[in-house]
Amino acid sequence: MPGVKTAGRIVVLLGAPGVGKGTQGIRLGRELGWAHVSTGDLLRAARRDGSVLGLEARKYMDAGKLVPDGVMVDLVREHLAGLGSGRGVVFDGFPRTVQQAEALDRALAPEREVSAAALLDAPEAVLFKRISGRRSSPGGRVYNVYFDPPRRDGVCDETGEPLIHRTDDQPDTVHTRLAVYREATAPLIGYYEAKGLLVRVDAEGDIDQVYAGLRAAVADRKPAADRAATGS
Ligand code: AP5
Repeated sequence: MPGVKTAGRIVVLLGAPGVGKGTQGIRLGRELGWAHVSTGDLLRAARRDGSVLGLEARKYMDAGKLVPDGVMVDLVREHLAGLGSGRGVVFDGFPRTVQQAEALDRALAPEREVSAAALLDAPEAVLFKRISGRRSSPGGRVYNVYFDPPRRDGVCDETGEPLIHRTDDQPDTVHTRLAVYREATAPLIGYYEAKGLLVRVDAEGDIDQVYAGLRAAVADRKPAADRAATGS
C-alpha cells in the first residue's frame, strides 16, 4: 500500500531499575526475531573492554547516575547503523531522558519510528527483592536466585561463565538509581503518552505472566504512519 511503512518496528521498554526490562526484552527479541538493544549491556561491555567510553561510563554507573545524554546518543546511533533497517528493535534502558527520546526520534526519521513504549510497572518492594537476587552473565543473560535460578549455582546455563553480582546493585546505589528514575526518566511516560504510544504492562506477576501482557500489548502495534494509512 502506498505510503505504508514496512520497515521493522521499534519498541521502547520503560520502567524502574529491576522491573524486568532486560528479562522481557531478551525474550521479546528472541521470539520476534528482533534485535534487543540494552544500553546498560553496551556500557558494561565497554567497561570490560577497558575502552575510553567504558572508563568514562564507570564513574556514573557505579554511583547510580546517568551517563551524559551526548555519550549515549552517539553510542545508540552508531549501534543502530549496524543493525540494518529491516529488523525490529526492542530498546531496553534507552531512551532514559526526554532529550534521548527526541534524539532517538530524529535518528530514526524518516524511515522508521517508535511504534510503542511499554511501561513495565511494579511496586518498589518488588524491585528491591528482584535486584537483590539478580545474577548476570557477562553476555547479559539475567538470572535470579529466588525467581529464575541457573541450573548450576553461580554458572550461566548458556555459556558456562561465572555469574556476577552487579556493582550497582548495592542497596544505597539502588536508592540513587530509583531517585534518578523518578526525576529524569519518569517524564518519558508523559512524552510517549502525548504521542499515543504508551502502553502499560502490569509487571508484578511472574516472568511468564508479565511476558504475556507485554507481548499482547506491543507485538501487533504498528507505527503511527501505518495506523493512519490503514485506519487501524
Ligand atoms: P541498566 O542496566 O539499564 O539498569 P536499569 O535500568 O537500572 O535496569 P536493570 O538492569 O537494573 O533492571 P531491568 O529492568 O533490566 O530488570 P532485569 O530484567 O535485570 O543501566 C545500568 C546503568 O547504566 C544506569 O544506572 C546508568 O548509569 C547507565 N545507563 C544505561 N542506559 C543509560 C542511558 N540510556 N542513559 C544514561 N545512562 C544509562 O530483572 C531484575 C531481576 O529480577 C533479575 O534477577 C530477573 O531474573 C528478575 N525478574 C525479572 N522479572 C521478574 C518477574 N516478573 N518475577 C520475578 N523475577 C523477575
